[in-house]
Amino acid sequence: MHMMNDRSFYYIERAVEKKDLTIERVSTGIPKLDELLQGGLPKNSVTLVSGPPGSGKSILCFHFINAGIKNGERCLYISVDQKIESLLIHANAAGFNFLPAIEKGLLKLSHIDLERSGAYHEMGDLVLTGDFDRIVLDSLSPFADTPLVLGRSVEFEKVPVIEKLSSYPSDSRPVIRYHIRKIFDFLHSVNATSMVTSELTEGGSGLSRDTISEFLADGVILLAIDPMMDRRKLTIWKMRGTKHSLRPVDITITERGIEIK
Ligand SMILES: Nc1ncnc2c1ncn2[C@@H]1O[C@H](COP(=O)(O)OP(=O)(O)O)[C@@H](O)[C@H]1O
Ligand SMILES: [Mg+2]
Repeated sequence: MHMMNDRSFYYIERAVEKKDLTIERVSTGIPKLDELLQGGLPKNSVTLVSGPPGSGKSILCFHFINAGIKNGERCLYISVDQKIESLLIHANAAGFNFLPAIEKGLLKLSHIDLERSGAYHEMGDLVLTGDFDRIVLDSLSPFADTPLVLGRSVEFEKVPVIEKLSSYPSDSRPVIRYHIRKIFDFLHSVNATSMVTSELTEGGSGLSRDTISEFLADGVILLAIDPMMDRRKLTIWKMRGTKHSLRPVDITITERGIEIK
């Protein structure tokens, strides 16, 4: 409850500070997707990109990062599953050579190993200390799957809910939900526009692995594979402040990335 209130106040303060309530748009890097989104993602929003393995989540994030680089924006890509080198190779195969941007200091690529202690704080520090325009967290799912140690940090001790949480096992629903909420808070508290990916498993319910991200995110883009028809689809499921169709559109993935037909 406390967290919710703090956050609402934060938004109100920021809106008042801004004095202009119109939504600025940030390009997704895919022109046709921008058209479907009234110009792009709302600035400072957090969008959940959800889909099964191989559906194009990382490639959609590459487009988003690439658009930022082309604009001279500062970008952060946090890779949780994939090591940096493999991510760079994979991006290059989909049409994105990120090496020049890394050399120019426009893109920071960070691999976070959740098995390491302190990984959770490492992520928080990365997000909070850099002055990024665009942030990708790829993916959120391991945070929901790996029991994480709570406590120790001063920041955590300030949050009253934590005391109650410490009586739950670290892989229980309330603890996982707390962590996911905390990650969305991190991303909402900085001045960046973000994309967060979530792996959907076959037969799983909800729009994310953890089934809470879809409520915390400002937008949900769903990617799907139809193996029988040899087809891929993209659906804008939710986007705050945006008039959009709910109809899935056909997409292809080539050496030039994602194309909307
Ligand atoms: N150069 C390419 N040409 C055609 N398809 C590609 C190419 N690169 C990647 N793909 C397709 O994209 C898929 C990987 O997309 P990715 O964004 O990594 O998925 P996810 O992150 O959802 O697991 C591969 O399984 C492959 O089908
Ligand atoms: Mg991926």
